Amino acid sequence: MEKIRIAVQKKGRLNDSSLKLIADCGIHFPKNSGQLKSPADNFPLEILHLRDDDIPGYVMDGVADIGIVGRNEIEEQRMDLPVMENLSFGKCRLSIAVPREKSYTGVNDLEGQIIATSYPYLLSRFLAENSVNAEIHEISGSVEIAPAIGLTDSICDLVSTGSTLLFNGLKEVETIFHSSAVLVRNRGLSPSKLELANRLLLRIRAVKRADAFKYILLNVPDEKIDEVINILPGLKSPTIMPLAQKGWSSLHSVIPEEAFWDNIERLHNCGAEGILVLPIEKIMF
Ligand code: PRP
Ligand code: ZN
Repeated sequence: MEKIRIAVQKKGRLNDSSLKLIADCGIHFPKNSGQLKSPADNFPLEILHLRDDDIPGYVMDGVADIGIVGRNEIEEQRMDLPVMENLSFGKCRLSIAVPREKSYTGVNDLEGQIIATSYPYLLSRFLAENSVNAEIHEISGSVEIAPAIGLTDSICDLVSTGSTLLFNGLKEVETIFHSSAVLVRNRGLSPSKLELANRLLLRIRAVKRADAFKYILLNVPDEKIDEVINILPGLKSPTIMPLAQKGWSSLHSVIPEEAFWDNIERLHNCGAEGILVLPIEKIMF
């Protein structure tokens, strides 16, 4: 039977979330014990575990059919890959950082500097846009130690929590690109592989949607039902069931999580009681 291959980051920021997303899609695969490939048990899918920098190229060449990778890698490598879905994890930024004790007043301070980075294209684009002449020193890993060992004046690297910069005595001074994970595919997928990719995409969207919504149950005095319905922008009209206690009803609905937090006080003021908010595993329309 035909299978599709998905490339995911072997280790690093995107690894856990990528594997969790696939697992949340109901796809099981044996625990990876360092192999390059692992086949899923219950979906025609094979996972390729790769360095994130290699993922765009592998998908471009068709070694992998689809891949989960940061936009930063795709943009840096200028790969023309169709994005099937923006994913909500792997948020980070590509930033320039300088030693904490150095003063920094603006981009002109970078003039004449040597900057270490694994992102020479994105950095050179930023420097050109700002008419700054600086020397780019390309290194593939541990960019953050370059200033401390006297190799360069500053760095340009991904920042997510900021702890790597903090730990290395650096401060972020310019943000040049915002990134998060995307699902990309090879442009020339066969119709049968495209169909498999779309089946997976359907599941991914169901998981994403479910993450953003909550199932809410609450008890409301009957005369307040209309008011509460106006507060909660449900997917469809809520389910209303009478409670054993006369004059009260139980109201069930699916709402975006932020709508709940924004409206919790108004619900309370309507006399709503016993409010339960439950996670949803999947939502299909
Ligand atoms: C990036 C970057 C830093 C780290 C920053 O590495 O190179 O090392 O994340 O994250 P922090 O702000 O939370 O400390 P990445 O996981 O992309 O791995 P790679 O550079 O080896 O591909
Ligand atoms: Zn990388």
